[in-house]
Amino acid sequence: MLDKPGRVGSIAPSSKRLASLMTQEALSAIKQSDGIVVEIGPGTGSITRVLLEHGIAADRLVCIELDPALYQYMTEHFPEVQTIWGDAAALDIILPKKFGKIAAIVSGVPLKNLPLGKEKEIIQLCCSALKPSGKFVQFTYGVRPPAVTSGLQRQFVGFTLFNLPPAFVWSFTKM
Ligand SMILES: C[S@@+](CC[C@H](N)C(=O)[O-])C[C@H]1O[C@@H](n2cnc3c(N)ncnc32)[C@H](O)[C@@H]1O
Repeated sequence: MLDKPGRVGSIAPSSKRLASLMTQEALSAIKQSDGIVVEIGPGTGSITRVLLEHGIAADRLVCIELDPALYQYMTEHFPEVQTIWGDAAALDIILPKKFGKIAAIVSGVPLKNLPLGKEKEIIQLCCSALKPSGKFVQFTYGVRPPAVTSGLQRQFVGFTLFNLPPAFVWSFTKM
């Protein structure tokens, strides 16, 4: 965080409560359909761990982490999960086609630290990579929600005080 405040964007890993809110929303998208779950910005895996604990099979989960040290951390602590070192903004290029359709994308990327254009680009790109019934799930700090982009429906999922800082969870689906 001290090295790269803008990119890491938080003072502590997500709490179990926040990770559970994110996971429940992802589960609602994948329960009745096939397809993988992609986690972008896993950091030290606090959401990854809860996704696995809630029964998402390791071979159905792929993580994309931009920071080389955190990528390394993920490969050492979650060897059963495939982590790709790369930028979520290039998800359509770096995610091998062999993984098939994406049922849900769970994002820890600090979108509100990015310029608006880049924030919208990532949301749009992630949503266009989803299956028609898929969901893009994002948490934010503070009251500003993730940007609305055309063709997408944004939904408020929940809020938790039990996180440092308190966090809001949102999801996007295609209209
Ligand atoms: C706020 S931390 C969240 C870490 C973890 N998911 C959690 O909830 O504790 C943001 C993470 O997103 C990663 N990140 C930032 N920009 C990214 C990008 N464009 N693509 C992939 N990961 C990114 C950072 O390196 C960091 O690991």
